[in-house]
Amino acid sequence: MPHAVIQAKKALSCLNGDNLFFSKKSGFLISPVSTKCENFIIRAYQNGEKIVVKLDKTTNPLITDDVKSAVLNFSLYLAKKLNGKTIHHNLVETKKECEVLKRYLLDIEDINKKGFNTLLNSRKIAIEIGIGKGEFLCETAKKNRDTVFVGFEIANEPISKAALRFSRENIDNIKLVHYDARFGLDLFDANTVQTIYVNFPEPWFKFKKLKHALLNTTTIKKIERILKKGGTFELLTDNLAYAVSISTALELFTKLKCNQERCIETSNKSINTYFERRWKRKRRTIYSVIYKKTDETPDLEPIDLQFPLKIRKDYILKDGLIFKVLDIFENNKNEKIAEITFGESVNPQHAYFGLSEDSELFPLPQTVFLLDQEARLSLRMANL
Ligand SMILES: C[S@@+](CC[C@H](N)C(=O)[O-])C[C@H]1O[C@@H](n2cnc3c(N)ncnc32)[C@H](O)[C@@H]1O
Repeated sequence: MPHAVIQAKKALSCLNGDNLFFSKKSGFLISPVSTKCENFIIRAYQNGEKIVVKLDKTTNPLITDDVKSAVLNFSLYLAKKLNGKTIHHNLVETKKECEVLKRYLLDIEDINKKGFNTLLNSRKIAIEIGIGKGEFLCETAKKNRDTVFVGFEIANEPISKAALRFSRENIDNIKLVHYDARFGLDLFDANTVQTIYVNFPEPWFKFKKLKHALLNTTTIKKIERILKKGGTFELLTDNLAYAVSISTALELFTKLKCNQERCIETSNKSINTYFERRWKRKRRTIYSVIYKKTDETPDLEPIDLQFPLKIRKDYILKDGLIFKVLDIFENNKNEKIAEITFGESVNPQHAYFGLSEDSELFPLPQTVFLLDQEARLSLRMANL
């Protein structure tokens, strides 16, 4: 993550300014920033005589030179105010132009306002979750020009490489979402997606925490809802235990039907992605799991949410949902920013909102989250 370290005689707490918001709980300070392509938050905290300045990763910008230079400028500004100097940083330019990368990205606020189907003009839709460097998506999109492909990827480096690849090939039927796919699926209408591909997901047991599992029971039910009748979910993995557990979960928790001779087969197709090449070099067997939807599913219960949204409690944990105000930050004009966590309690989202005098949450340019059903339910719960 982009960061800088300042050595200073004066403490962070002596500062004040319009764009400096101090935490009510800790010694943290946050500053909302807007550059030509991105809106994000920079954090700073005291660590002995040093001050650490960091990009806040929950605000999710693509890390381009634009973002790095904003973090560097902010650290220079703090160093000057505190009679100190920047002693370390990792903010060297990499010549990543944000305009090129942005060409393929869907705006998160637009997705929340309109939903994918409206944004994509109701064209034929396919999805890839965890696109990595985009090799598979690029080739598949070239062969299916009548379909628009939505690629989800959480990591910065691979999504940037993928966008550059699509731009070099001048592909115009791919849209990217730089966010956790698990929160994006509810923003597709029911029964509208032709295919959902997942190629070489990290098996959950590589992670310390189960909450990172991409394909859990919540996600596979969401996948089932948005697939078209006749549409397919297609998984490739080098991990047999993973293939077995996903196939079992699909059998137990969805009505999707196995769409191969056997539910788990050895795959002989080649998709030539970074991870496929890696596992083939290690002579690992690749397994394919394909399931088909045979019945239509009902749409989600509509939940109307209007911002500004009055919040009546700052912590609720109920019915598998959470809403919690983690911290409140205030500047010298008494403007407030609330850091909240909300959504499904085992896998919540995390975002910053403006907070009015009347305890109303309102989105800032730096507010980044996807309004999945659990986010809607938990925000409504806080509002009731
Ligand atoms: C092992 S890599 C496979 C990449 C690519 N499919 C390939 O075959 O080379 C898994 C990718 O999924 C991404 N990923 C993991 N969980 C995700 C999530 N919840 N939403 C979007 N992307 C995710 C990771 O960042 C990573 O790039």
